[in-house]
Amino acid sequence: MKRRIVNLKKLRTDYKADLLDEKSVPKEPFALFRKWMHEAVLNHQHEPNAMCLSTFSKDGQPRGRMVLLKGIEKGGFTFYTNYESHKASELEFNHKAALTFYWQACARQVRIEGAVQKLSRKENAAYFASRPRLSQIGAWASHQSTAIKSREELEDWFAFYKEKFKGKKVPCPVYWGGYLLIPDQIEFWQGRMSRLHDRLFYKRNNKIWEIQRLSP
Ligand SMILES: Cc1cc2nc3c(=O)[nH]c(=O)nc-3n(C[C@H](O)[C@H](O)[C@H](O)COP(=O)(O)O)c2cc1C
Repeated sequence: MKRRIVNLKKLRTDYKADLLDEKSVPKEPFALFRKWMHEAVLNHQHEPNAMCLSTFSKDGQPRGRMVLLKGIEKGGFTFYTNYESHKASELEFNHKAALTFYWQACARQVRIEGAVQKLSRKENAAYFASRPRLSQIGAWASHQSTAIKSREELEDWFAFYKEKFKGKKVPCPVYWGGYLLIPDQIEFWQGRMSRLHDRLFYKRNNKIWEIQRLSP
């Protein structure tokens, strides 16, 4: 196979997008987040709800992985996963977490920091019931983050649960559910010309959001 070498040092983009102005932004960050999410969709950003969830392991090792944002509600951001996964045991140990979005189509980044809490069994079951049937069966087949012998083993478990739930509603596994991250700070980054990017930082002080402009 021919070796292809990308010169990463020469890869650069000059951003020509909109300005982000503290005089015209909403006083609280959720309205701005919703607006940016809407614009990411309008600009055909692929998977605009994909975000990097960062946690800490017990021994202080930072860990990041992508998850999907499934709601902006109850003063926070929700996502779903397996409660026996690595991320879940890390969140059990340390409730603090960060979410990072990058919307390449709009030259925008959003960084969110706060603490998580688990959603209720009722909320988990309600969202699980709305998922496509094969994804529901996939949740039963996967013991997320554990080592498996082969792809075949996973497919065998999938076939097993497909058969087990044939003609029946697929219940929500007890080990599957969501988290709500309540933010205490959110930073909006808008790529601009000549690396003079706009950064607005919202920090919650009790119930009041304070806004600061940060140097790029
Ligand atoms: C675009 C994208 C979206 C993903 N969404 C989710 C998700 O919503 N929930 C989830 O548990 N894993 C999701 N994953 C898989 C995770 O990144 C990760 O591999 C998995 O959750 C195991 O992480 P852990 O070992 O740190 O617990 C997604 C991966 C990608 C690339």
